[in-house]
Amino acid sequence: MEIAVIILAAGQSKRILSKTPKVLHPLCGKPLLAYPLAVAKALKARVTAVVVPPGENRRGANPIADYVTAQPGLQKVVQKTPLGTGHAVAATIQSLKKFSGHVLILSGDVPLLHADVVKAFVSEVVRKKSKLGLMTTKVPDPQGYGRIVRDLSGNISAIIEEKEASPDVRTITEINPAIYCVEKRWLFEALTKLKRHPVNGEYYLTDIVGLAVGRGENVFGVLVEDYRQCLGINTRAELAEAQELMRKKIVDRWLAQGVGFINPDDTYIDADVVIGADTLIYPNVCLRGVTKVGSDCVLDIGSVISDSILADGVHIKPYSVIESARVGTGAQVGPFARLRPEAVLKEQVRVGNFVEVKKSVLEKGVKANHLSYIGDARVGRETNIGCGTITCNYDGFKKYRTVIGDKVFVGSDVQFVAPVRVGRGAVIGAGSTITKNVPEYALALSRSLQVNKKGWARKRKK
Ligand code: UD1
Ligand code: CA
Repeated sequence: MEIAVIILAAGQSKRILSKTPKVLHPLCGKPLLAYPLAVAKALKARVTAVVVPPGENRRGANPIADYVTAQPGLQKVVQKTPLGTGHAVAATIQSLKKFSGHVLILSGDVPLLHADVVKAFVSEVVRKKSKLGLMTTKVPDPQGYGRIVRDLSGNISAIIEEKEASPDVRTITEINPAIYCVEKRWLFEALTKLKRHPVNGEYYLTDIVGLAVGRGENVFGVLVEDYRQCLGINTRAELAEAQELMRKKIVDRWLAQGVGFINPDDTYIDADVVIGADTLIYPNVCLRGVTKVGSDCVLDIGSVISDSILADGVHIKPYSVIESARVGTGAQVGPFARLRPEAVLKEQVRVGNFVEVKKSVLEKGVKANHLSYIGDARVGRETNIGCGTITCNYDGFKKYRTVIGDKVFVGSDVQFVAPVRVGRGAVIGAGSTITKNVPEYALALSRSLQVNKKGWARKRKK
């Protein structure tokens, strides 16, 4: 089955009241537009044409066009003025010039549809050799949608938009989810016959239904049971509703694969996250972006983990924030720890409360349990980083590296003024400011000697 896909994404998105175009608003970590694009990909579309708006301002910023350009294999079609969904589809005529067959039309703002439901729909329309097929669904609250009007024998006769519907038509609960499968030549010929609607001056794609009926063409409707998949997003409220439906679906999927949740209703997992079995997730954990969590991990309450890889048996203690980092098998992080981009913690590392790690490798078994900053560093195996240790990696202009060998003991309150190297087995005395390299197995101390003045305090009181 060879099909072409058209995705409409050039609308003005007025109802969402946002500087960000509607189709770029994120839903479980991905822009709305990513979802119909994934459907097109799953259906192995011959051509995928995405209709985008022209540049928005004088400098021509066009985030939707940029998003489309960044993905390989898509045809970007600019709709110069937003004159309605019919006008938007008509703009793709050049992109589909060489294609013949059925065209699937998807909306950029209908993200919850499953690819297999769309596939079944397209197959049926193609098998029936219908010129025009459309999905329909029945919703509890049809407000805002185009209504499916049927004649006395139950055949579809028109789609009437909410704005133009009589009170009678408004009571119809069967709606148009805006998913169509249309024979290409017929489609583009029909589009030339559309007329602008006086209400808003737009050409409605939905009018091709009335046109087909007028020409004695059978309009083939496929009713989708699960109306939730057909949710169209125009407002912030609808976006929040979709977010909750999607969030729940994702959590249910991981529950079914052996992941434990203390409270499934209070956990936020992005669409592309992967989690191993027997991992236990506490409330208010957010797993974002392309995060991969191994098996047998514990992610305790309130942790936010983005674009990171956690191996098996990792324990993330409460309220830790982890971003673009890697955590090795059996490592422990937190509570209240922060791993920033390019932090790499190998097996069995322990990073405790109020420790920040950035662009540094902590080799196997390193311990940094309290109140430290480790940036632009490599810390060797089983080295102990004392409380309050800081790598001074920045001189106001450039960043410098600190390299610490294996089995080093760093006392509390030490500053490493980078660039600096510490050989294996060395001991750094508490309170030292290390500005020079330390040889292997040396003791490094840099603090003034303590003076005790006998009875001094008693005399002062007198
Ligand atoms: C549309 C349908 C309605 C259906 C609903 C389902 C029409 C006239 N109405 O209404 O029957 O129930 O979707 O969600 O088609 N777009 C463009 N260019 C334009 C206008 C819109 O590319 O000039 C794009 C939008 O970016 C959006 C999609 O088309 O992705 C739908 O447009 P929207 O304005 O949201 O249509 P609805 O009013 O929701
Ligand atoms: Ca819409």
